[in-house]
Amino acid sequence: MRGIILAGGRGTRLAPMTAVTSKQLLPIYDKPMAYYPLSVLMLAGVRDILLISTPEDLPGFRRLLGDGSGFGCRVVYAEQPSPDGLAQAFIIGDPFIGGESCVLILGDNLFYGGGFHAAVRRASALAEEGSAVIFAYRVKDPTRYGVVRFDGSGAPASLEEKPARADNAFAIPGLYFYGPGVAEEARAVKPSPRGELEITDLNRRYLERGRLLVERLGRGVAWLDTGTPESLHDAAAFVQSIQDRQGLMIACIEEIAFDNGWIGREELAIAAERSKESAYGRYLRELTQRA
Ligand code: G1P
Repeated sequence: MRGIILAGGRGTRLAPMTAVTSKQLLPIYDKPMAYYPLSVLMLAGVRDILLISTPEDLPGFRRLLGDGSGFGCRVVYAEQPSPDGLAQAFIIGDPFIGGESCVLILGDNLFYGGGFHAAVRRASALAEEGSAVIFAYRVKDPTRYGVVRFDGSGAPASLEEKPARADNAFAIPGLYFYGPGVAEEARAVKPSPRGELEITDLNRRYLERGRLLVERLGRGVAWLDTGTPESLHDAAAFVQSIQDRQGLMIACIEEIAFDNGWIGREELAIAAERSKESAYGRYLRELTQRA
């Protein structure tokens, strides 16, 4: 399975923080935002990763992640010259996907919690068999998101992007799994009234053919977004409180690579050395000494 991180957009709701840098390079507490979605792909077992961003911001991501070998992955890059919609990621990424199954995660989505790891592994297996798999999550105000409604039997009944009213609707997080052929499906999507290739329209194509699975993420899973100063701050406070309490890091990409058996102690030590003045580096150093 191939993974795409979409880190485009102008981050206008975070200006002037985003005046000279990409939103997805801003910190969430102690690490760049992009580490969080990257760690989700790695937890799903995905090592082949395409990062899509604007021509201006790509150099920053290249400097941060390189070719991915430091964390046992292969990372390549592509430009999205203008923000023409999430579904465009599959058209841009078509040569990279190369007929494989594929997972897309938005570069500003943060997930954490019990059962989440198993849910992504399950989604990944189902997508490899050809289904599209998306998630549903209860939020106070679903109108800010793409939403799904279920019928009486619990099957997905309808999808809508940022509806005016959202009674009985669940928000759809920015994490989407597809079987082979998603680029052709994306090419068939027509631009929406706001001129974008909407991921919700792509997902509706799968729904209409009975090929969309929607998994509900329960209350034990945290899904946070980071689009405003308030939500960015909340996400940072969340990461800080969990990490301080447990002494374990969220989204430590080298730790995940090490646990997955993708890198050894030597690579871990190199990464520790690079950040040796920070708590992140000290955490990696301790990992190298772990039995
Ligand atoms: C996008 C999608 C929306 C989804 C959301 C998740 O919206 O269009 O369907 O629910 O991401 O973060 P955006 O936040 O780009 O407006």
